[in-house]
Amino acid sequence: MIFISVHTPTKEYGVGEGKAADLSFIEKCVRRIAEVAKDRKIIVEKSTIPVRTAESIKRILAAYENGLRHQVLSNPEFLAEGTAIENLLKPDRVLIGGEETELGRTAVEKLVAVYEHWVPRERIITTNLWSSELSKLVANAFLAQRISSINSISELCERTGANVDEVGLAVGMDRRIGDKFLKSSVGFGGSCFKKDILNLIYLCECFGLKEVAEYWSQVVKFNEYQKNRFTKRIVQMMFDTVRAKRIAILGFAFKKDTNDTRESAAIDVCKGLQNEKAHLAIYDPRVEHDRIKEILDLAEGGEICKNTYEACQGADGIVVLTEWDEFRVLDLEKIYKGMKRPAFLFDGRNVIDLKKAKEIGFEVFGIGKGDL
Ligand code: UGA
Repeated sequence: MIFISVHTPTKEYGVGEGKAADLSFIEKCVRRIAEVAKDRKIIVEKSTIPVRTAESIKRILAAYENGLRHQVLSNPEFLAEGTAIENLLKPDRVLIGGEETELGRTAVEKLVAVYEHWVPRERIITTNLWSSELSKLVANAFLAQRISSINSISELCERTGANVDEVGLAVGMDRRIGDKFLKSSVGFGGSCFKKDILNLIYLCECFGLKEVAEYWSQVVKFNEYQKNRFTKRIVQMMFDTVRAKRIAILGFAFKKDTNDTRESAAIDVCKGLQNEKAHLAIYDPRVEHDRIKEILDLAEGGEICKNTYEACQGADGIVVLTEWDEFRVLDLEKIYKGMKRPAFLFDGRNVIDLKKAKEIGFEVFGIGKGDL
């Protein structure tokens, strides 16, 4: 049994490029297997790859056909960064797709037997190849869609005086909806959501499904809108200009408990503020300084700080962009004393007690917090 897992390149790319990058590597692997295999192999595709990659793998293998009839299975990863081991040891489900032939079914059962060592059988789903490949994209698309949905409501909350956390709680307690992935934020990031939705859109367009493609495009578009609107709100509240103002950026990773910055909402917000000539004082507990310097041109206005207090010292405003636990327990009084007046606090993750911050004297803004 041979597992192929291709890690997507870090650089930002469009769907076409991403697809090409993954497939060229996979093609090389498959050709190599076909060249050296002496008996029948089960080739398991684990990476998130464009739907119908298994078809390409089969075609490559067929070109080398020597009577071995290798089998191709799809077994997508559902691991999230920061909780990967937990997700692996206690998965919600394991998905295995194979060909609907006798050889295909035998291959599927062999992989099922591997997982059965630690996963209850009822959590292992077996499907055809295409269902398995598509389900991975759809799972990520649904998760991202939930975030865009609650983020769309956050703007309405701000206008009406509702609180998006309370709305999320009330809605999520309906067991049919569920309470996960309803935390409103400055926007979702990470290497997977946008890429997978763009893949889904590409697939729909290939099949001429214009309306379906448009439906999913909106999830990505709304995410861009949320990041922009947050940035604009910062500028607007700070008297329509952030020029030469020191703005402390708390958090640069796309979520807590990782140093990954791919597609992080922080990138767009920081670039937006730099365009407005702000001076950024950036602090993230885990992201390497060099990585931030690769992404942002600090000569355009910026520095990297060792901790929150250094970043906030002498700042006009604070912007929270990652939900690190340490930001929940900040000494707000101490921070306030070291800041210019009025001291602004923008929470893009709803981790700060903004009512308390307001009492201290901060001018505050929280995503979806209309009643402050
Ligand atoms: C995601 C999926 O959750 C995994 O199941 C999947 O296996 C993985 O992609 C993948 O395809 O490899 P990951 O990218 O590690 O995992 O991160 P998530 O925990 O899903 O968070 C994604 C983004 O959504 C983050 O920016 C996070 O801050 C944001 N988010 C998440 C919210 O804004 N609100 C929420 O309620 C939840």
